Amino acid sequence: MAEVVIVRDQAEAGAIVADEIARIVRLDPRVVLGLATGSTPLPVYEALRARLTGVDVSQLRGFALDEYVGIDPAHPESYRAVIAREVVEPLGLDPARVRVPDGSLAGIEHAGEDYERAIVEAGGVDLQILGIGTDGHIGFNEPGSSFASLTRVKTLTEQTREDNARFFDSVHDVPRHCITQGLGTIMRARHIVLLAFGAGKAEAVAGAVEGPVTASLPGSAIQLHPHATVVVDESAASALAHADYYRYAFANKPEWQGL
Ligand code: PGA
Repeated sequence: MAEVVIVRDQAEAGAIVADEIARIVRLDPRVVLGLATGSTPLPVYEALRARLTGVDVSQLRGFALDEYVGIDPAHPESYRAVIAREVVEPLGLDPARVRVPDGSLAGIEHAGEDYERAIVEAGGVDLQILGIGTDGHIGFNEPGSSFASLTRVKTLTEQTREDNARFFDSVHDVPRHCITQGLGTIMRARHIVLLAFGAGKAEAVAGAVEGPVTASLPGSAIQLHPHATVVVDESAASALAHADYYRYAFANKPEWQGL
């Protein structure tokens, strides 16, 4: 099962995950990070700034999970722009070593394959940061996505478009299609770290961690991963049946075990 870490607030979550990322970057400057967008990972990127100061990040590589199809890459809410603004610039990464799936319409039919090849050539993702949608999606793998899926074009659910409307002028401006790493791609990462905050995520988190493993709740794929960590605040943990056990296990975690 995934290790579940219940934290006080987003700042504590950011600190725990950023500590682990800084640790692996110090051990191996060529680490490959899987980068998520949306609101959830922001405390991690924030906490990383101080932790990576003075650390050699010139070799660090990154792969974003997804991108909207057909969005102008210069649009401030394209994930290319978000990753540049929230991750590459503040952390001082080499922009040439951080990739986002290419959502431009020209060449979209082979963009997924190209992206998969690039991840494999980089040696695979060492640590994948994930959020979870209110409908249980990870990346933009909406309910029903195959557990074997690789990077490809998907249609966003209306719920996801409404959830993401806050980043646009209106829901009508949210693209209908995306290109996203598949569940199969995400599952190849060596360590998956899924974060969730707020009561709106409680059902999705409970389904992902404790519910049946089902394509109807794509986040439940993490139950099949040998090294998955779920970091949640009290509200996002509120529907977990075994929250007391997770608290007990984390409080009594052997020193030698990392995250
Ligand atoms: P959020 O999105 O971090 O903006 O809540 C999470 C997701 O849709 O995966």
